[in-house]
Amino acid sequence: MPTPEIDAILAAVAESRRYRHVAPTIVARLAAEELPKSKNAADAEKRTKRRLHQIFGAYASPLPYDRLADRLDNTQGDPALFKKVCSQILTQHASTAERLNDLQAGFYQRIFEITGRPTKILDLACGFNPLTLPWMELPPSAFYVAADIDAEMVRFLDRFLALAPVHGEARLVDLVEFTPSTSADVAFLFKALPCLRYQTHDLLRILDAIRAPWLVISFPTKTLGGRSKSMRETYRATFDDLLKDRPWERQELDFPSELVFVVKK
Ligand SMILES: C[S@@+](CC[C@H](N)C(=O)[O-])C[C@H]1O[C@@H](n2cnc3c(N)ncnc32)[C@H](O)[C@@H]1O
Repeated sequence: MPTPEIDAILAAVAESRRYRHVAPTIVARLAAEELPKSKNAADAEKRTKRRLHQIFGAYASPLPYDRLADRLDNTQGDPALFKKVCSQILTQHASTAERLNDLQAGFYQRIFEITGRPTKILDLACGFNPLTLPWMELPPSAFYVAADIDAEMVRFLDRFLALAPVHGEARLVDLVEFTPSTSADVAFLFKALPCLRYQTHDLLRILDAIRAPWLVISFPTKTLGGRSKSMRETYRATFDDLLKDRPWERQELDFPSELVFVVKK
């Protein structure tokens, strides 16, 4: 429900270099949650930006997306160079930067050994992960749907998917409000649950609504600051608890930088 206070925060965020392209519905939702806890308007704005940092800004800074897309465009016809440029861009988002070594060590091969090679993938709360497509070795007929909350990032990913060796599209999606109704063979939710947990306690509603027989859900093994103390144990226990009432089978894959659960719904 829009109010003058929420409108003022939306206007302030629209001025911010880092957050101006984040879907306004998300900013409004976070602002509505923070306003009752705030001392005044400035405090409400600060608190909303802190939440945006927690769910989005901590992972990547704004990038020159048009220039990056042009660089990718210039590699057309040279798959090895395309992959090399993808790996350079992947370093610009904290989540994919730490996935690079695992990609080389058979990350997707081990996942697809369990799920079978998918031809339709949903990559939810995707960050830059669509740029790992060259490591997936999907058939050219495969279809890839990527979703995240920043309009400029989504526009870049959509342009990337037009250049990638599969079909696909990127969408602006707030998973707390809406789960895409598109069905797929496999849905990725890589390192997304901790972020979504900051926004809703009803993570199961999101997992239930995803229309894919396989969910590939992962957790980081280190904090962004590099500390790793008991992260695996903590996330394993949290995930066990989350799924305790679902009869879903799951297998665990332990990569150095990521704890992955392949879940059969
Ligand atoms: C830790 S990053 C993981 C990115 C990517 N899945 C990966 O592992 O490379 C979390 C991602 O969740 C996205 N995100 C946060 N809240 C979201 C929401 N409500 N709906 C959709 N995506 C969201 C952020 O923008 C960010 O890209």
